[in-house]
Amino acid sequence: MLGALKILSGSSHVEFAKEICDHMAVELSEIETVHFSNQNMLVRILDNVREADIFVIQTSCPPVSDHIIETCLLLDALRHSSAARITAVLPYFPYVRSDKKDQPRISIAAKLMASMFQTAGADKFLLMELHSHQIQGFFNVAVDQLLAVDVFCNYLKKKDLSNYIIVAADVGEAKHLGRYANRLNLPMAIIDKRRIGNTDTVVPTHLIGDVTGKHCLLIDDEIASGGTLCKAADFLKENGAESVRAAVVHPVLSGTAIDKINASSLDELIVTNTIPLGNKLSLCKKLTVLSVAPLFAKAIQRIHNGDSVSVLFGPSG
Ligand code: R5P
Repeated sequence: MLGALKILSGSSHVEFAKEICDHMAVELSEIETVHFSNQNMLVRILDNVREADIFVIQTSCPPVSDHIIETCLLLDALRHSSAARITAVLPYFPYVRSDKKDQPRISIAAKLMASMFQTAGADKFLLMELHSHQIQGFFNVAVDQLLAVDVFCNYLKKKDLSNYIIVAADVGEAKHLGRYANRLNLPMAIIDKRRIGNTDTVVPTHLIGDVTGKHCLLIDDEIASGGTLCKAADFLKENGAESVRAAVVHPVLSGTAIDKINASSLDELIVTNTIPLGNKLSLCKKLTVLSVAPLFAKAIQRIHNGDSVSVLFGPSG
C-alpha cells in the first residue's frame, strides 16, 4: 500500500505545478535548490516523503542543462529519503527531438535522458506528446504519455470549421493527424519540408492536397525557432489558403521565433502551457494558450489510485 500522494516541483515551471496542485486540492511540497559559486547545485526536500507516492514536476526550458541536473538531484534526493514510488512528470521532455541516429557519430540524447532519470531514481514517467511515440521504448519502466488532441479540439470546436482543412507541417507529423481529422471531421493536406543540415533553416517544397480558398489548421508537436511553422504558413498562403492558424503542443519559442511569428502569415498560434511563456505572451498577440494542467491533475490522481489513464485519451485513432 502506497503512502500519501505528494507533489514536488523543480524550478522550471512552478506555476504549472501549482496549477496542478490547485486542481487536485493538494499542497505543493517545498524543495530548496542552491546554486554554488563553483556551479554545483544542491537540492533539498523540505517535507517528509518517507513511504509517500511522489510526483516530481519538471519541464525542459532554459537553462535546459541546469534543469536536467536539478531533476536528477531531486530524484536522487527522493530515493535517499525513502519515498515509496517516484513518478517523474515531464510535460516537455528534454532533447526529445534527438530520438534516432540519423547522422554518423551522434548521440541519441533522448535515450540518454531516459536512462539518466531512471538511474537517478524515477520509477515511472508521466509525459506529454513525445516527438515520436517509439521514445516510450527508451524506458525500462512504465511510461504514460498524455496527448493534447482533446484540449485543442474542444477549443477548435467552438469555431465555425465548415471550410477548414488540417495540414501537417511536415511528413513526420502527418501520421498523427488522423486523430484531429477524425474528431473534427475535416480533410487533410501535408507539407513536404526539407531542413538544411543541422540549422534552423527549413524549406517547404511540395504540398500534398488542395488548400485553395480554405482556412488551414497546421498541427505540430513543437515550435522551436519558428522556421517550420512560419514558412509553412507563408507557403499555404502562396498556395491560395484563405487563412492559417496552428495548434502546436510545446511552445519552445527559441531565438527569434516571436519576431518570425509576428511577421508571418499565421493568424493564430494555439499552444499549451507545457513550457513557461514569460513575457512572450505580451510580445505576440497571435498566441492563444490552453492549459493542460487539468489533464495532468487527472492523470496523477488516476496513477495514484491505480486507475486506468488511457480513458483520458478519448476515442483512439
Ligand atoms: C520537427 O520534426 C518537429 O515536428 C517540428 O516541426 C520542429 O521541431 C519545429 O522546429 P522549428 O520551429 O525550429 O522549425
